[in-house]
Formats: sequence, structure tokens, C-alpha cells
Amino acid sequence: MIGGGYVGLVSGTCFAEFGTDVAIVETNPDRLTALREGRIPIYEPGLDRLVAENVEAGRLTFGDDIAAAVKGADAVFVAVGTPSRRGDGQADTSYVYAAVEQVARVAEGYTLIVTKSTVPVGTGREIAKIVHATRPDLDFDVASNPEFLREGNAIVDFMKPDRVIIGTDQAKPGGTQRAQDILRKLYRPLYLLERPIVFTGLETAELIKYAANSFLAMKITFINEISDLCEKVGADVNDVARSIGLDGRIGKKFLHPSPGFGGSCFPKDTRALTAIGRNAGSPVRLIETTVAVNELRMKAMGERVIALAGGDVKGLTIGVLGLTFKPETDDMREAASIVVLDQLDKAGAQIRAFDPAGMETARAVLPKAVTYCKDALDAATGADILVVLTEWNEFRSLSPEKLKTRMTGRKVADLRNIWDPESLKEAGFDYISLGRPDMVHTA
Ligand code: NAI
Repeated sequence: MIGGGYVGLVSGTCFAEFGTDVAIVETNPDRLTALREGRIPIYEPGLDRLVAENVEAGRLTFGDDIAAAVKGADAVFVAVGTPSRRGDGQADTSYVYAAVEQVARVAEGYTLIVTKSTVPVGTGREIAKIVHATRPDLDFDVASNPEFLREGNAIVDFMKPDRVIIGTDQAKPGGTQRAQDILRKLYRPLYLLERPIVFTGLETAELIKYAANSFLAMKITFINEISDLCEKVGADVNDVARSIGLDGRIGKKFLHPSPGFGGSCFPKDTRALTAIGRNAGSPVRLIETTVAVNELRMKAMGERVIALAGGDVKGLTIGVLGLTFKPETDDMREAASIVVLDQLDKAGAQIRAFDPAGMETARAVLPKAVTYCKDALDAATGADILVVLTEWNEFRSLSPEKLKTRMTGRKVADLRNIWDPESLKEAGFDYISLGRPDMVHTA
């Protein structure tokens, strides 16, 4: 497994749990040291125990020696990052290609190279060219096995996936069968659990991942726009979402209004799909719009908080609950909090923030002046306004009465709809949320 990040570490550990010997190769020295010392560099419930058990059982090892890991391997998975390239939004495949070249140089005998990273359509073929150019003598196949795990639920997602996608080079005689057989064996425990495994071509597998993530991002953006409309016409988005979601063709998931989608996947994958579409002469206009609407939405959220303050937050103290792009992760990549806190900071507010898992990662990306607090009530202490940006469960049980004992002001912007508007109003708060009537006391 080349890359010991979110995907490499979780999938490598889960393969080990399935009974396979896994060697994870990681080039970041801090990350590698942590892994070797049994410290898990990411926040993922249950992962520490699973890593420890598999290391103990001798099925899971960590190192930086790619040759040692590749030697004798039935399959080499590439799980390195594919971030957005600045400027054109295309996925940056340079880490993937660099890893593949390293693998090709040290491979001995037949080698199956599998992309687990999310890669643009055509990457598998490009990998084949690179391997061939590096080692014209090498017997190899390329497969695409995109990963669908969700941070915060990654182990269950890997162990009990909705589906596994395996793309192989259908144009290569024999290659498909051999590669499929190896991957079928690796995923055998999922066969026993009767999870669907889809065998398809390389390009199709690559596109499936982008199509899936872009659809989900579009669904989130759809309900966000409906949420805005609800506010204008006096409707309640929670009831709209619940009711449309009861239609099995729509489904109830991903219909929660939010400050916009963030994270390590949706923003970059939607941008990448639009680039793939444009380059192929078949623009995916729905997703182009989704990307644009989502960017505007994050900015609109900061403006809402400023409007709640009466148009000016200069010198005000703003308590912020939740920073990560979603609960149960420490991942701050493209989180709405980055945009919102930047706006509030520039507008002259003092920010007191708390997040149950993301404080360390947040420090690197949020404005320097942010004060990090020890818990939610600490963040609320002295605040003129309280803003909810991530719906961690522990925030739901904070009572308005408790908040009143800590806050200086009586204004709450609940940008995840975690509280009941009536109870906040009864407690004397001016309360705004998403897609529901504002509960603002008029003077
Ligand atoms: P990450 O940035 O957490 O991990 C990548 C790791 O690879 C880093 O630790 C890096 O040091 C290491 N690395 C880079 N080049 C290397 C090399 N040549 N040899 C050894 N190690 C190397 O990224 P993450 O989140 O794990 O994502 C990886 C891929 O999986 C991306 O394409 C992403 O889109 C995709 N993905 C991510 C999901 C997520 O929830 N994070 C879910 C599904 C797919």
C-alpha cells in the first residue's frame, strides 16, 4: 500500500484484518514515526485498536522502503493524494505517477498496480505507459479500485461497503482475468458478506468515483438552495427535506442544509469532474453550477453572521462551535469554517473556537488570531454571538440556559440546524438557522 494517509491506512489495515499481509509505505517521516510507534496520525474511531491488533498479529507493517514492500506482493495499491491543481481545478496526479515510477523501478516479476486514489479518467492508461517506459521488460497489469469510505465511519465503510468497483484493462488480452482474480481473492470476505462487486473497465471505474461524489455534492447543494428558498417564502426546509427524502427514488441522506460541502473529496472531485468534462468536450453543467453555488454559499454564511450582528462585528466576540468539515473527523480540508472565520476575522471580530477533534489541524489553516478553547462552554464564554459550524453530537445537548450563563450577548447563528428554534427563542435568544423561520426578537 503506497501512502499511509486516510485511505491507505484504513484500507491497508482493513485488508490486514481480512487476513492479508500488508506493508504500508509512507514517505512523510512524521507520519511514519507515528505509525511505527502505534500513534494514529488521523482521527478515526476504532482505527487505533484495529491497527494495533493487526500489527501485533504480524499482518501489518509500516516502512519507507518501497522495494521491500513491493517484493513478492500480489498487488500494489497506490493511495497517495490527488489534490486539486491550482488554476484549472484538475486533479494533480503527479504523486500517483511518481509512486508508480518508483514501483516500476523495483518490481520483480508480474506486478498488479491498483489505483485506490481518486484519479481522472485516463490515469490507468497513463500509468501503463509510465510502467512500460520505465521497465519495458516488466510483466504487469493496471487496475482501478476507487475507494468510497467516509471519514468518521471509514472502517465500517471499508468492511461493509455498498459496493466494490474493480476496473481492469479490457483491451488487454488475458490481463483482465489475472488482475480480476487477484482482486477477487483480496475482497473474498466481502463476497461472503454478499456485498456487490462490480467488474468493469478502467475508464468506467475511474469515472464511477467522480460521478458518485459529484452526485452527492449536487444533492447537498440542491437542498442548500431549497433552504434559501424556504427562508424567502416562509417554508421549513426540515419538513421539505424529510418529505422529499421519503420518496425512495430520492432518499433521505445528504438532504441536510449546511454552510456548504467541504472536506478532502467533494470540492476537489467536483472540480476535477468539470475539468474532465470540459476536456472531453462534454461539459457537466450541473456540476459546474454545483461548484460555483457552493463557493458562494460559504461566503454567504459569514455575511449572515455579520447581518445578525446588525451589519458590523468589529470588536465583537464570536464563539464558534465546530471547525472540521463534518463531525467525527479532524479533517479541515476545504471546511466552511476556513472561509467563514476568515471573513469574521477580517471584519474585526475576536473569535473563540472549539472543535472536539480538529483543533490541531485547524491551527494550520485558520486565522492566527483565533483563540482555541477547551470546550464548547469555554468558546461561548463572553461571546456576543455564537455560531455553530459543525454538528458534533456533543453540541446538541448544550442547553440555552447554560449558554446564557456564559455568553455576553443573546445571538445564535446555528448553521447546522442542531437546535430547536422555539426553545432558543423562549430563552431570549435571537436565533437564526438554515431554511427555517428566523427567531429574532423585534425591539
Ligand atoms: P492523504 O494526504 O491523507 O494521504 C496520502 C499519503 O500518501 C500521505 O501520507 C503522503 O505522505 C503519502 N505519500 C505521497 N506520496 C508517496 C509515495 N511516493 N510513497 C509513499 N507515500 C506517499 O490522502 P487521503 O485522504 O488518504 O487520499 C488519498 C486518495 O484517496 C486521494 O486520491 C483521495 O481523493 C482518495 N480518497 C480519499 C477519501 C477520504 O475520505 N480521505 C475517500 C475516498 C478516496
